[in-house]
Amino acid sequence: MNGKPTALITGAASDFGAAFAHVFARHGYDLVLISRTAAPIHPLAEQLTMEFQASVKILLHDLSHPNAPDTIAAQLQQTGIEVQILVNTSERGAWGQFVTTDATAEWQLMQVNMVALTQLTKVLLPGMLRRGTGKILNVASLAAFQPESWRAVYEATQAYILAFSQALAAELQGTGVTVTVFCPQRWDQSTASDDLERESALTTMAQWGYQALFAGQTVAIPGWKHRLMAAITALLPRRWTGAIAAFLLPHPPSPPADRP
Ligand SMILES: NC(=O)c1ccc[n+]([C@@H]2O[C@H](COP(=O)([O-])OP(=O)(O)OC[C@H]3O[C@@H](n4cnc5c(N)ncnc54)[C@H](OP(=O)(O)O)[C@@H]3O)[C@@H](O)[C@H]2O)c1
Repeated sequence: MNGKPTALITGAASDFGAAFAHVFARHGYDLVLISRTAAPIHPLAEQLTMEFQASVKILLHDLSHPNAPDTIAAQLQQTGIEVQILVNTSERGAWGQFVTTDATAEWQLMQVNMVALTQLTKVLLPGMLRRGTGKILNVASLAAFQPESWRAVYEATQAYILAFSQALAAELQGTGVTVTVFCPQRWDQSTASDDLERESALTTMAQWGYQALFAGQTVAIPGWKHRLMAAITALLPRRWTGAIAAFLLPHPPSPPADRP
């Protein structure tokens, strides 16, 4: 690496992960990019090196494999890379009536969204604590505040990320290591007129998340309307929130169905 601080980003090949990679490279970070697939990540790494003189290390891993975080930690140790910032953006989704959705896909979803995020934190946190500085950014979504039928498992993983991040942030008070959970509203990317508009919207959101991370916010929700929604949801009786969502949300047309 170039002697710059290093940010490790999961899910780096697409959407939010790639947007965060751009933002961190622009702010002077070297990068470790974790991706399941090689094809999209190499051009991204070349672009970031050319544009921002970032040193980029690519590690190819399927994060649904339980030993992936330990292997990543071993690879970092072998290459002498110290990670100052961990950004967890990898995710899998699932949509449909729970009784019909694929159990293996949901197991993988839970591995990627919860277990890998937790275990990566477990292996990288000791180094951060030893150095007395570090930042962890867990990307969840506004859905973390609201149980949603037809996405029962996915939504539960978002709630896990929120609760885990809040609890860990409190546990790490005064250590120099902060945890931020970033909860943007899910948006329909097909509404963007072209790829440029889509990428620009993602970069704006990632830049917002970056600033929240460096401001030391624990829960970061972009947009006052979304912060209000989250606050109102928190005030409602728990038994209402699931029922309201089940009433309002479109039901799956015909099972089984994957994420739209
Ligand atoms: N996009 C939105 O509208 C939105 C809004 C709010 C919050 N968020 C949050 O932002 C985060 C990222 O969302 P996104 O839209 O960027 O999702 P995405 O485009 O679906 O990207 C997910 C990333 O996770 C990676 N991934 C999936 N399974 C993996 C596995 N088994 N091993 C390693 N990597 C794996 C994917 O790699 P492959 O391409 O190789 O599968 C991909 O790079 C999520 O936490 C999501 O909740 C997104």
